[in-house]
Amino acid sequence: MTTPLHFLHLTDLHMPPPGALLRGIDVAARVEAMLAAIAERHGPQGPLPAAFAVVTGDLTRDGEAAAYGRLREALARLPFPAHLMLGNHDDRAAFRAAFPGAPADGEGFVQQALPGPAGLCLLLDTLDQGQAGGRLCDRRLAWLEARLAESEGPVLLFLHHPPLPVGIGGMDAIGLRESAALWEVLAPHRARLRHLFHGHLHRPIAGSWRGIPLSSHRGPAFEVALTSASGRTEVSARLPPCYALARLEGGDLVVHTEELAGTA
Ligand SMILES: [Fe+2]
Ligand SMILES: [Fe+2]
Repeated sequence: MTTPLHFLHLTDLHMPPPGALLRGIDVAARVEAMLAAIAERHGPQGPLPAAFAVVTGDLTRDGEAAAYGRLREALARLPFPAHLMLGNHDDRAAFRAAFPGAPADGEGFVQQALPGPAGLCLLLDTLDQGQAGGRLCDRRLAWLEARLAESEGPVLLFLHHPPLPVGIGGMDAIGLRESAALWEVLAPHRARLRHLFHGHLHRPIAGSWRGIPLSSHRGPAFEVALTSASGRTEVSARLPPCYALARLEGGDLVVHTEELAGTA
């Protein structure tokens, strides 16, 4: 019998600078409440200890230096590593200034390959600075291609922008531009690709892209309405913060989306 491995998928924290709100929502309180609950539940003494967390971007409200400082303090309470990625609301230079130990792929992007018992986790950087939509330029895709070529075994993919439209017009308009080029790189390794974790949509999502299972969730900050399909994205903080717990055992993967009602 194998021992299950747990890790967390966090996304779209949108941490504002101290004293600031986001669309009238006290996002910092929601993020901090979620991290406190996670530390208790998934720390070494908790009921479901996690090995690490991956945060799939939109770390801050708008890439402010003070927001990254606040986020760094908030994440320090987690009793396991949190691997940070960038989304369209981030700023690469401000992020690097606040997290000088952050990974670098040699081309200036925040990409990293994390080998481990979960398989090879490949964390991609889809930020197109100043734009809402996502990019994977040739240099980023070349990095991905090299990491796949030099490795073997199962792969878990992480990226902020989903590679497919989901039927919410305002969000589909700011999706990933190079999804076809991404697939060209991935296709030769299709049998190794176990799951794709993404963010950006602020909604619980499950499905598949070119046969690769994928999932996302709302995150702690706010939710995007399913019915905002006409091109105007409607958001609110009616629902509680949430995160996902991934459970790997014997090559099988289960992703639990966990709602934290009553925390914020
Ligand atoms: Fe977001
Ligand atoms: Fe986003």
